[in-house]
Amino acid sequence: MNTVIVGTQWGDEGKGKVIDILSKESDYIVRYQGGNNAGHTVVVDGCEYIFHLIPSGILHKGKICCIGNGVVVDPVVLLQEIKTLTQRGIDINRRLKISHLAHVILPYHKILDQLRETKRTEKLGTTGRGIGPCYADKINRCGIRMIDLLNPKIFRIKLKDNLKEKNEIFNKVYRHPGFSFNKIYREYLEYGRRLKKYISSTHHLLNRAIRQKKNILFEGAQGTFLDIDFGTYPFVTSSSAIAGGVAVGTGVAPIKLDKIIGVAKAYTTRVGEGPFISEFPPRFNKFMRDKGNEFGATTGRPRRCGWFDAVMVKEAILLNGVSELAIMKLDVLDGLKRLKICTAYKYKGKVFREFPYDLGVLRNALPVYKEMPGWVTSIKGAKEFKDLPLRARNYLRRLEELLKVRIKMVSVGSSREETIFLD
Ligand code: GDP
Ligand code: IMO
Ligand code: MG
Repeated sequence: MNTVIVGTQWGDEGKGKVIDILSKESDYIVRYQGGNNAGHTVVVDGCEYIFHLIPSGILHKGKICCIGNGVVVDPVVLLQEIKTLTQRGIDINRRLKISHLAHVILPYHKILDQLRETKRTEKLGTTGRGIGPCYADKINRCGIRMIDLLNPKIFRIKLKDNLKEKNEIFNKVYRHPGFSFNKIYREYLEYGRRLKKYISSTHHLLNRAIRQKKNILFEGAQGTFLDIDFGTYPFVTSSSAIAGGVAVGTGVAPIKLDKIIGVAKAYTTRVGEGPFISEFPPRFNKFMRDKGNEFGATTGRPRRCGWFDAVMVKEAILLNGVSELAIMKLDVLDGLKRLKICTAYKYKGKVFREFPYDLGVLRNALPVYKEMPGWVTSIKGAKEFKDLPLRARNYLRRLEELLKVRIKMVSVGSSREETIFLD
């Protein structure tokens, strides 16, 4: 069984927790896009782990974790992540596989990401991790891949070419001194040496696993509305975060995918800039941010919060082919007198029931809400659907009606145990 886990909002839906839970029944867990802009949180026995590049299944002994060709890899961050996990007693050896075709984030990508933001009239609010510039180089056919770090001659030619052009841009456009060839060359060859044992042709490995009827879990990073094509462009990331990204990002053919699970928060959050129709007004925003501990797992930035937006999630279900949903952080809605679900947008007298891509509409439209009464008691200890208060059950049933997809998992706390499975 090959299952994709995909974010249906603007990221941080709780994908890490879902991956960790489903990893138990999987043999391989595979990242297919994004880089260390991701921050996936897993809480086990009161200990928190935040994964940026290594798939969130690594805590399960014996599982193979792959970083697919569609991922952009910052070797500095990856080596640090390996070190931290090893220190915490997790055995990575022979379990971590990195595609030799994955592109490498170099120092100039990170600096360019940050400098470009300073030049923009409208900031994107990127994580500043070099993700956009690295993907741009990949498409521009001047990127450096993991396999190149293992071949000093090829790495030398590619890096030389890159710096020739890039240093001129850094000097002239950004008044930045630029980068030394020798320093990067030596440093990154050394990273290549240290990562060599993990680097391989993961697309062959995965297709072999499929032939052997192994279970594969594909771990999406970011979310549908950060997708380069279908997100709220240009306030998006630079990769295909939707389920379609799996095929190009791993070399597993689309026909091999069996199930797509969409992950959504019981409300909505967004970190970074860009339109957000169901965003809460400022005071309530702060209240909910504190209640849900909504601070970025990668940058620590405060996340913007809002009501559940069914227009968005419906679009995500369509784009990803979602067949079932996991609803996360339902406990954060505990104690709210009234709940709202956004079911349409209104702009200049027109009602939008389908997600509009025009930034002018997205920026200025008003949300149309369905209101529901909230529940007063805490749902944190609920183990089964029937343990939830009637109003919480009604809220979930209403979401199913609006989205026309079954909810199969409901999360009521950050730890593994705080999860309800529905038939
Ligand atoms: P991801 O990027 O989609 O993996 O999500 P993040 O890890 O960035 O953000 C989700 C946050 O919510 C993490 O801090 C999780 O520990 C936490 N979390 C996940 N599920 C629940 C839940 O049901 N209730 C609460 N209160 N927190 C949760
Ligand atoms: P996970 O996998 C939430 C956002 C950034 C910014 C935009 C572009 O943890 O859900 P980038 O650095 O990618 O060029 O930034 O995308 N962003 C995320 N927001 N969760 C993430 O990942 C994100 N990864 C990128 O905040 O708005
Ligand atoms: Mg996250």
